[in-house]
Amino acid sequence: MSDDIKKGLLGIIVDETEISKVMPEINSLTYRGYAAQDLCARCDFEEVAYLILNKELPNKKQLKEFKKELSKEITLSKNLIDILKKIPKNSHPMDVARTAVSVMGLEDKETKDNSPKANLRKAIRILAKTPTALSAFYRLRKGKKTISPKKNLSFSENFFHMCFGKVPNKEIVKAFDVSLILYAEHSFNVSTFTARTITSSLSDIHGAITGAIASLKGPLHGGANEEVMHMMKKIKKPENALKWITKALKNKDVVMGFGHRVYKSGDSRVPTMREYFKRVAIIKKDKTFEKIYDIVEKVMIKEKNIYPNVDYPTGPTYHLMGFDTDFFTPIFVISRITGWSAHIMEQHAANKLIRPLASYKGNKHRKVIQLNQR
Ligand code: CMC
Repeated sequence: MSDDIKKGLLGIIVDETEISKVMPEINSLTYRGYAAQDLCARCDFEEVAYLILNKELPNKKQLKEFKKELSKEITLSKNLIDILKKIPKNSHPMDVARTAVSVMGLEDKETKDNSPKANLRKAIRILAKTPTALSAFYRLRKGKKTISPKKNLSFSENFFHMCFGKVPNKEIVKAFDVSLILYAEHSFNVSTFTARTITSSLSDIHGAITGAIASLKGPLHGGANEEVMHMMKKIKKPENALKWITKALKNKDVVMGFGHRVYKSGDSRVPTMREYFKRVAIIKKDKTFEKIYDIVEKVMIKEKNIYPNVDYPTGPTYHLMGFDTDFFTPIFVISRITGWSAHIMEQHAANKLIRPLASYKGNKHRKVIQLNQR
């Protein structure tokens, strides 16, 4: 293959962005100039969502108004609820999320309006409704009744309430909120680039987010947090971890939750999420997965010099919070809607059709032979 070909767009800068900056050399990530760790310490998810969508942190009045808008848009149409009831119960919730956002697009009166104001309104609607749709499916597939959201609950509290019918203690909610903040935005990752590529043909936000969800589902991207949990469940006990990881490395297996295209000496989001994983494990009085986590991490760094990415601590944290494993990546979705939406608006604002070239290596020119002579 020619050196001119950058497979996987490795190392290629394709555009400019004002939304986030990933700085692997200093293990740092900023959203609109604010360090993600700082935002985790001082803000709730709604403030960060506002920042990503509106470019500035909200003041009290703006935040109140934003929360009011989210609350106004949180309920689903009867049509969407009926569709969720008909979806096969064994469907992957990521496919349900994709379908739900697609249906929201069919129902949205502003689908054809790609102006910045309409896109912001649509982004808020998708952000508000997607957790409701996912939690409804969470319950429907277990044969349970859906639970209506409550106006006085935060974004994170409402998700617990709609899934489980109760809100856990403040520290668990904070850990969940932190995971949403850390998942909210990460520059030109594959799902965001998918959203921008779809947008570049001047298509609409619902289509771009539907495509982004499909992209996030893959195990090399968002799907990794589910794979991490499958791995930890397979390992089962800390005593098995060393043998398991040694065998995996001998087999040259890809170990999920490790490695990153941009960070080569550690993902900036991991230390914060690792700390909240620890706190949740203490509250839940279950250190099994923490012990497995440490053993696998140590071997991966020592033997391969490959560090964990954010999906490594989020997987077991969501498990301890009580979520089904196939809901981990959908949780990533409800947060990343903010980043995707901001990128879709940024793409619309300074659009250029994304259309790379390929080096052809197929058959040389051939003459078509008529069907009856082939
Ligand atoms: N386990 C074992 N070996 C690995 C891993 C891993 N997780 N990641 C990279 N390597 C090895 C890889 O085999 C290759 O070795 P060699 O040069 O001998 O062939 C080398 O490291 C370089 O890897 P690469 O696949 O060329 O690197 P990439 O930048 O194309 O891939 C990645 C990045 C994230 C796809 C990859 O690290 C991976 O598959 N990780 C596991 C899946 C995962 O955790 N994904 C989440 C990504 S970050 C958060 C998110 O987006 O959700």
